Amino acid sequence: MRGFIFDLDGVIVDTAKYHYLAWKHLADELGITFTEEDNERFKGVSRKRCLEILLEMGGMEVSGEQFNRWLHEKNEDYLSHISKMDASEILPDVPRVLDYLRDRNIPMALGSASKNARPILEKVGLLSYFNTIVDGNEVVKAKPDPQVFLLAAERLGVSPNQCVVFEDALAGIEAANKAGMQSIGIGDPDILTEADAVFRDFTEIDVDYLRGLLAGSQ
Ligand code: G6P
Ligand code: MG
Repeated sequence: MRGFIFDLDGVIVDTAKYHYLAWKHLADELGITFTEEDNERFKGVSRKRCLEILLEMGGMEVSGEQFNRWLHEKNEDYLSHISKMDASEILPDVPRVLDYLRDRNIPMALGSASKNARPILEKVGLLSYFNTIVDGNEVVKAKPDPQVFLLAAERLGVSPNQCVVFEDALAGIEAANKAGMQSIGIGDPDILTEADAVFRDFTEIDVDYLRGLLAGSQ
C-alpha cells in the first residue's frame, strides 16, 4: 500500500505570497532588507526559525519578550491576509489529484510546518480529504528534519519507503529524502535539485503518472 503526503503552503494553496508579505512588512519595520529570494529560505521553515534567520540577516539580537512580540505581530499580519481565503486559492489541479487518490482509497496525510494548517484547509474546503494532519503544533523538529513526514507515515500505517511526498521547499525535499520517501518537487527544477522528480504544478501530473506512482513504477 502506498501513502501520499502533501505539504500545504506552496503545494496545496498559494500562501507563500502571504507569508512573504507578512515577513516583508516586519523586515521593513526593522530596517532589514528582505527580498523574494530571501523568502526561498523561509519556505518549509518554522515561524520561530524564520524570525531567527531574519534577525541574523539584520545582525540583531533581542530579548525573548521582544522576539515573541514580533512572532505574534508577523502571525497577526499573516492571519489578516488569509482571513479572506476561499477555494479560489487552491493551486491548479490539486482537487483533481486529491479526488483521484480519494476515489481509490489511498491514505493521504498533510505534513506541514505551519501552525495555521487546519484553519486554512477548512477555509478552502479540503480538510476532509486527509486521513491525518501533522502540523507545526505537533512537530518539534522542523524540516529538513524528517520527523513531520515520519509521523505522518506512522499515522497512515504506511512504511516510509512506500510514501510519496509533494513539496515546494528545499527543506521539505531534504526532509522527505531523509525519511526514505519518494520526493516530488512542485516548483522550479533549478531550485528543487534534490527532488526525485519536479513539476511546475499539478497540471503537469497526468493520470498515467499518478497510475505509475501508485504502482511504484515511477
Ligand atoms: C510553512 C511555510 C513557512 C512557514 C511555516 C510556518 O512551512 O512554508 O514559510 O514559516 O509553514 O507557518 P505558520 O503558519 O505556523 O507561521
Ligand atoms: Mg511549502
